[in-house]
Amino acid sequence: MVSTNPPGTQYSGTKYLPASNDPQISPNQQLLPLTAKVNSQDCLEIGGCDVTTLIKQFGSPLYILDETTLRTACRQYRDTFQRYYEGESQVLYASKAWSCLTVCAIAASEGLGIDVVSAGELYTALTAGVKPDLIYFHGNNKSLAELVFALEASCNIVVDNWHELKTLVALATEKSLSSVPVMLRLTPGIECHTHEYIRTGHLDSKFGFDPNDLDELFAFVTKQTVLNCIGVHAHIGSQIFERQPHRDLAGVMVQWLNKAKEYDLSINQLNVGGGLGIKYTESDDPPSIEEWGQPICEVVQEACKAANLPLPKLLCEPGRSLIATACVTAYTIGSSKVVPDIRTYVAVDGGMSDNPRPITYQSLYVSVVANRMSATATETVAIAGKHCESGDILIKHAHLPQTEPGHILVVMGTGAYNYSMASNYNRVPRPAAVIVANGEANLILQRETLQDLIEKDCLPERLKS
Ligand SMILES: Cc1ncc(COP(=O)(O)O)c(C=O)c1O
Repeated sequence: MVSTNPPGTQYSGTKYLPASNDPQISPNQQLLPLTAKVNSQDCLEIGGCDVTTLIKQFGSPLYILDETTLRTACRQYRDTFQRYYEGESQVLYASKAWSCLTVCAIAASEGLGIDVVSAGELYTALTAGVKPDLIYFHGNNKSLAELVFALEASCNIVVDNWHELKTLVALATEKSLSSVPVMLRLTPGIECHTHEYIRTGHLDSKFGFDPNDLDELFAFVTKQTVLNCIGVHAHIGSQIFERQPHRDLAGVMVQWLNKAKEYDLSINQLNVGGGLGIKYTESDDPPSIEEWGQPICEVVQEACKAANLPLPKLLCEPGRSLIATACVTAYTIGSSKVVPDIRTYVAVDGGMSDNPRPITYQSLYVSVVANRMSATATETVAIAGKHCESGDILIKHAHLPQTEPGHILVVMGTGAYNYSMASNYNRVPRPAAVIVANGEANLILQRETLQDLIEKDCLPERLKS
């Protein structure tokens, strides 16, 4: 039975449901996935699947990815750039947010390309069937083996520094290649830390070329027939709520294109990176995907017109805002500890190994009890992970109804930088992940087993008993 609460009572779960099922709703502005509902058992349903049933079927903890939310975000990005940009555009999924075969395949099926930053991410994207010309390989210290792999795969390479540029020229020459497609990553002097940004002459960043090297860089690149410099790239930060930084960025990048003209370089791609923020907590208020993309398109168009430049192909590469809201992590509640007059700890069967963001960045999350969605929140507790680390607290102040061991706690917005940053700390196996749609759940990542954990261990002969 769904409990009926008197008006004005604080609900623990139902208030986080999407406000409407309007397809225009921007996923990054929601806390729960777009298909979230409460069923007649007062349990949370995602993609038509009861979360408590999923836990019985697939075990706990469990990442639950909602296909509708992910596809909606992909389409909104694609449609925004098609609607507001008169030239060609291409959205890339920054797969560092969550790289696995299913996510790459879905992004590709929605017409997105993929940004990768390692041989592992490149291999995943290729295996998922992503076309090499839609793959862009980033990274500030790609190994020789990674560069060779990228050349053999014929993907685009986003060159980060002089060492890489010269290594690439040597490798391409050695392999008698020509016109290897490269982009140049520059640090534009725009720095963003979530809600604030600054313009500086020099950025303290390990990524990208110094824009003061632009003349030298273009002069060098134009002479390298083994390379085809197709574009420029910049990424100014993550979880950004302001729109001005990307407007400024777009303007600066068009100036770079203008300079390229002086060197006879027909650069025709401009990639503004990712960075749009998402709603992790009730007070977060990011712009929608459309509100973020529209001004970027407008600035590039206006600036190109003013400089009499042809419109470049416009690229962006969001990660978090494409996938974070699409996924929740469901845990099983176990022990609890009351520290009188201080706080109550409620422990779950995962923690910093499946979501390192709270301990690493003090990131905030919101949770609900999946089997008590309409119950009134009666207490504020700290959600503790199971790891041997006092700082392993997933949520410091969770407002929840009374919970008991065995209840299912769902943490929202865990699609980005959770699985991809997960570890085996304390030799805890990584959870499974399922994708849900239309009442069906499919495994997309198997739960690691204890055997998996020792698979790569080697015991020297002399130590064997
Ligand atoms: C080069 C680059 N592109 C794209 C992204 C994706 O950013 P976000 O997940 O904030 O959209 C990142 C994130 O660090 C990045 O470094």
